Amino acid sequence: MPRIVYVNGRYRPYAEAAVHVEDRGFQFADAVYEVVEVRDGSVIDETRHLDRLERSLGELRIASPMSRAALRHVIRQVAQRNLVRHGTVYLQISRGQAPRDFVIPSPPLRPTIVCLAQRGSLQRLDAAAERGIAVRSSPDIRWGRCDIKTVMLLPACLAKSDAQAHGAKEAWLVDRDGFVTEGAASNAWIVTAKGEVVTRPISPAILAGVTRKTTLDAVGREGLKLVERAFTIAEAKMALEAFITSASNTVMPVVEIDGVQVGDGQPGPLSRRLRSIFHQIAERATI
Ligand code: PDD
Repeated sequence: MPRIVYVNGRYRPYAEAAVHVEDRGFQFADAVYEVVEVRDGSVIDETRHLDRLERSLGELRIASPMSRAALRHVIRQVAQRNLVRHGTVYLQISRGQAPRDFVIPSPPLRPTIVCLAQRGSLQRLDAAAERGIAVRSSPDIRWGRCDIKTVMLLPACLAKSDAQAHGAKEAWLVDRDGFVTEGAASNAWIVTAKGEVVTRPISPAILAGVTRKTTLDAVGREGLKLVERAFTIAEAKMALEAFITSASNTVMPVVEIDGVQVGDGQPGPLSRRLRSIFHQIAERATI
């Protein structure tokens, strides 16, 4: 079955889907995006993803090109047309196309919208969660507004590629003061010896993960002690447990940091528990 991609109002075959060479997303990373999980034919936490998309657009003064209802419709259509019951939907909105100029055009351009779906394997993801993943630390060389979900992802690509070249699945980015900001494409968490669940508070230094927020709901529901503060790689290596959260992984246990085993080297009980109840708490909207 051919893959179908939504581009500016049309559903096109994958090979024919294209945007202009002078799209500002291509030339300046002047674009924002969302990755939404699809599971058992439902879109997960769609409201929170669309809330964040609106916020990202607002921060960059890009007018939302479509109503929320229309965006929801496109997400469903793209999942359906690609027969994705498990996987992700990627939605990107750029400022639009104009002759190359650093200055943001006025009057506003017509934004470019692209939406595509990717099938995923629940079995493969669950098998990875059973084993847990390794992470590798990397200096955080990104810009000062990581709270905006832009496509300016080169530092994350470099860090994650370096991690993978060293046998790790994800990079943990470390700020100039030695504290972990977040993963290259996920939020970072530890569980301390006191049983406290620790993650960095929301600030311009990190993306306010939708999965982070729903995991916070899960932490609350389980009556666990939450502390929102920064932690170092050294502290994380000594932690009882560690994990990452993202739409494509939900809660994924971390069992190794820079070659050092976390806890007993197995996914910890709190990480497992949070993973197992995640989808009872997350919003589900049938496609
Ligand atoms: N990445 N931090 C960063 C830098 C991210 O890129 C992501 C998501 C997250 C987690 O956010 P959420 O829980 O809303 O997925 C945190 C997505 C999955 C990606 O770029 O593929």
